[in-house]
Amino acid sequence: MSKILVTGGAGFIGSNFVRLLLAQRRHSVVNLDKLTYAGNLENLKDVESDPRYAFVKADIADRPAMERVFAEHRPEVVVHLAAESHVDRSVLDASAFVLTNVLGTQVLLDVARQHGVQRFVHVSTDEVYGSLGATGKFSETTPLAPNSPYSSSKAGSDLLVRAAFHTHHFPAIITRCSNNYGPYQFPEKLIPLMIANALEGKKLPVYGDGRNVRDWIYVTDHCEAIALVMEKGRDGEVYNIGGDAERENLHVVRTILKLLGRGEDLIQYVKDRPGHDRRYAIDHTKIAGELGWRPRHDFETALARTVEWYVQNRPWWERVRSGAYRTYYETQYGGRLKGG
Ligand code: NAD
Ligand code: DAU
Repeated sequence: MSKILVTGGAGFIGSNFVRLLLAQRRHSVVNLDKLTYAGNLENLKDVESDPRYAFVKADIADRPAMERVFAEHRPEVVVHLAAESHVDRSVLDASAFVLTNVLGTQVLLDVARQHGVQRFVHVSTDEVYGSLGATGKFSETTPLAPNSPYSSSKAGSDLLVRAAFHTHHFPAIITRCSNNYGPYQFPEKLIPLMIANALEGKKLPVYGDGRNVRDWIYVTDHCEAIALVMEKGRDGEVYNIGGDAERENLHVVRTILKLLGRGEDLIQYVKDRPGHDRRYAIDHTKIAGELGWRPRHDFETALARTVEWYVQNRPWWERVRSGAYRTYYETQYGGRLKGG
């Protein structure tokens, strides 16, 4: 059994990953999260009393805070998901992206190395490869060509992780995954935004012509891949993770409307995202061949399950939209947390 420090565990993928670790493994988990607008401890209500789980509120870019956390908790493994993650926000202001994704990752690498961490999994994105035309897929050897401030900051963090391995022999691995969907995704991202808007009878803003393609993966498939890389991956390697589910945005939006029994009159074409990448598609033969991973969920079934989750868990996203979720940390945890 290991002690695993998960950064960004209060976010969408992080909270699903923490839940998976506690349910399927014997490890103990320290969830380290700054609780930005995207961090929501309500995502982990069901596991917060588990004796193998601890939460620490801290900023990965705060070196003294990281030194205190590592000295106190002594993790053997770090799985690094904390990041500013939304492309549209990075277009408006890139500064937090550089601070957290670039500087924060370097601070974490330094402190983890000083404390002899045995494995560091850096969770990155297919967006570092840039945009594809009508054919082809991203492999691990595709050159990095990020187009947004978000993806550029993630590419910067990937290169710092690579440098830590090559310069210091630090046991780091990088994963690059395609677009996730599923429970607890912040309703600024395409799928939860469209579901919540449709349920409230609001317009569904489709950027440009709606023909951009993403390779969708159900979040627990991604989490299983991260766990496998953490346990069996090779140091210094990059592993691509994808869902085998390329779909145009318009198809996704129409499917959601159909699942909810709403009309296409709710679709509203809006001004395109600046620098909008046209198509992403992942070649995941490396992780399939080396570690035996493949996505388990097919898109149409898992999207229907996701829509149902947002229907059943309306209070969750209503509290996010109203901002009420931000009081949860203070009311539930206030004053009781070490390092908080
Ligand atoms: P998210 O925005 O839902 O969650 C990010 C979490 O990081 C939040 O809990 C936030 O509070 C925390 N955080 C932000 N800045 C921090 C800081 N300075 N210190 C500590 N914690 C901080 O993001 P997500 O969609 O769950 O993505 C998680 C990771 O996976 C990111 O690194 C992202 O780049 C990567 N990724 C996401 C996707 C996707 O489709 N969502 C796909 C591939 C890779
Ligand atoms: O590919 C992995 C990446 O996927 C992750 O690294 C990012 O963290 C994650 O946010 C996601 O990035 P995208 O920009 O692809 O996701 P988003 O949900 O913002 O948009 C998906 C597609 O839908 C994209 O083509 C833009 C479009 N879109 C998005 C929104 C929010 C719309 O048409 N309307 C919208 O309102």
